[in-house]
Amino acid sequence: MTSANWLFLTGMMGAGKTTVGQRAAQALGWRFVDLDQRIEQEAGSSIASIFASEGEAAFRARERAALERLLTATPPSPPSPGDSPGTVLALGGGTFVQDGAADLLRSHGPTVYLNVPPHELVERLSSPEAASRPLWGDAEALEALLARRHDRYLTADLTIDAAGLEPGAVCAAVLQELGQISALRGFDALKVELGSRSYPIWIGDGGVEEAAEMVGLQLGALDDRPSQLFVVTDDRVAPLYLQAFEERLRRGPWRVSSVVVPEGESSKSLDRLGQVLTALLERQPGRRDVVVALGGGVVGDLAGFAAAVMLRGVRLVQVPTTVLAQVDSSVGGKTGVNHARGKNLVGAFHQPTAVVMALGMLQTLERRQVSSGLAEVVKYAVLDGEPLLEELEGRAERLVAEPQQHGDLVARCCAIKARVVADDERERSGSRVTLNLGHTFGHAIEAMGGYGEVTHGEAVALGTLLAARASRVLGLARSPSEGQLELEGRLEALFKRLELPTEPAGYLRQGRQMAGWMKQDKKAQGDQVTLILPVAAGDVRLHPVRTEALPTLLEQLARGSQGG
Ligand SMILES: NC(=O)c1ccc[n+]([C@@H]2O[C@H](COP(=O)([O-])OP(=O)(O)OC[C@H]3O[C@@H](n4cnc5c(N)ncnc54)[C@H](O)[C@@H]3O)[C@@H](O)[C@H]2O)c1
Repeated sequence: MTSANWLFLTGMMGAGKTTVGQRAAQALGWRFVDLDQRIEQEAGSSIASIFASEGEAAFRARERAALERLLTATPPSPPSPGDSPGTVLALGGGTFVQDGAADLLRSHGPTVYLNVPPHELVERLSSPEAASRPLWGDAEALEALLARRHDRYLTADLTIDAAGLEPGAVCAAVLQELGQISALRGFDALKVELGSRSYPIWIGDGGVEEAAEMVGLQLGALDDRPSQLFVVTDDRVAPLYLQAFEERLRRGPWRVSSVVVPEGESSKSLDRLGQVLTALLERQPGRRDVVVALGGGVVGDLAGFAAAVMLRGVRLVQVPTTVLAQVDSSVGGKTGVNHARGKNLVGAFHQPTAVVMALGMLQTLERRQVSSGLAEVVKYAVLDGEPLLEELEGRAERLVAEPQQHGDLVARCCAIKARVVADDERERSGSRVTLNLGHTFGHAIEAMGGYGEVTHGEAVALGTLLAARASRVLGLARSPSEGQLELEGRLEALFKRLELPTEPAGYLRQGRQMAGWMKQDKKAQGDQVTLILPVAAGDVRLHPVRTEALPTLLEQLARGSQGG
């Protein structure tokens, strides 16, 4: 497979090559050509009459000539700067199975077989318009024809089982799978499996333009395409990326507008939410319209919550631009804002339609923010087990210096989160609760600093360290194997190398205040807070603590510092 400038659809008559092809072309911003129509135009007569008057062999010769002309012709319109126009070509039912055709097509671009079982084809072809199709006789003839062609069809680069699917869904599947074989834009896909609300996570090496293009592609393939896209971003991301992002999105069949909020945690407030909603409602959104969150976790949580509540819920696409948002906050559907009583206390579960991340955008991130996001990566490693933890220990400095080079780690974290979310979407059965490792201490630390002194990730690093210390102090931690440091010491060393804080003493000294914030935690139930404590890498325990016992525990943790 060479370039991505051609996409060929093959399959039997009635498989949906034209409809799906038109949709795919629209989503990609490419032109669409139907080979049969092209032949009819060139011959000045219908396929049926060519068959009748000249026979099948002559038709095949015409077909081959038309195909070769198309493939060798220069692109029809002069490309606009930076554009790479392509063509989606719906082949005739027999084109692909002619000798040599598959190789010829494959040398130009991916070939996709739309596989529809014979009984469904018969149903589709039983409409009066289908009667003029030359090789369509009866169900038996069609079945025999499919049997003759099927093995050849299966040699296409991709087979999509299109049985029972609407054209929009087939189109989405084609585009999604093409991404998976990297024929399109160098994106890899993961999936959050939530039945009919499942969604893809696209991870690509590119930058803002690739991200915008992928967003357009995803939305363009929807059956109920939006007519407006609302990009929500912050005033640090906007000067870097908004113009390019919007420009690329505007190539699609929708209006694009944006709302820019001040950067930082203070934007996760009810006031700011109100302002965002007002700005969006002034644009008269419809239920099909889409909010696109372009930014870090703050923008994702705020814009996500706005999408969850506007018109009782519109669709959301997450385009995370920080390490933290890429590995964690953009996946899983938690949205919300802070309240004077505590962090993230007002919010909603609202799963996105897609998550699109471009690693190239991490290059502009401040070093401190890179480190901050890596704290969540360490959290995943503590949850997942030794191999991931050792992997981080092996490349800590490189992670901070060049976060855009570590797509494999981003993908691993997303895969863990996707798995946990699929298992326990609303944090009911327990597995999703574990993702809060380090967060009960961490949220308290963030609140004590007035949400500005430490970043979320820095607070999570301190919180994870405290969770490991609590596990040791409470006698839960497993002794390390010989020659290895115990978990707390390992985490402390790793956080230092990742340029994250490792000294929670200042917070622990204000134990009563810290305990007060911990009681506000969403995992607090009655007079109990459930701490998530790592016993070893890959093994965490839910450990309930009476809220009145928290100050004592915090004192123990202050005394239990291995440094003093
Ligand atoms: N919803 C969830 O499941 C979930 C999970 C974890 C964290 N969170 C939330 O995420 C938030 C923290 O997210 P964050 O760390 O991304 O913070 P953030 O959104 O404040 O981003 C950090 C800073 O980086 C800037 N920035 C973003 N992208 C950039 C880029 N590509 N180049 C340069 N600068 C860029 C932002 O403007 C901001 O100044 C917290 O509010 C936390 O509660 C939510």
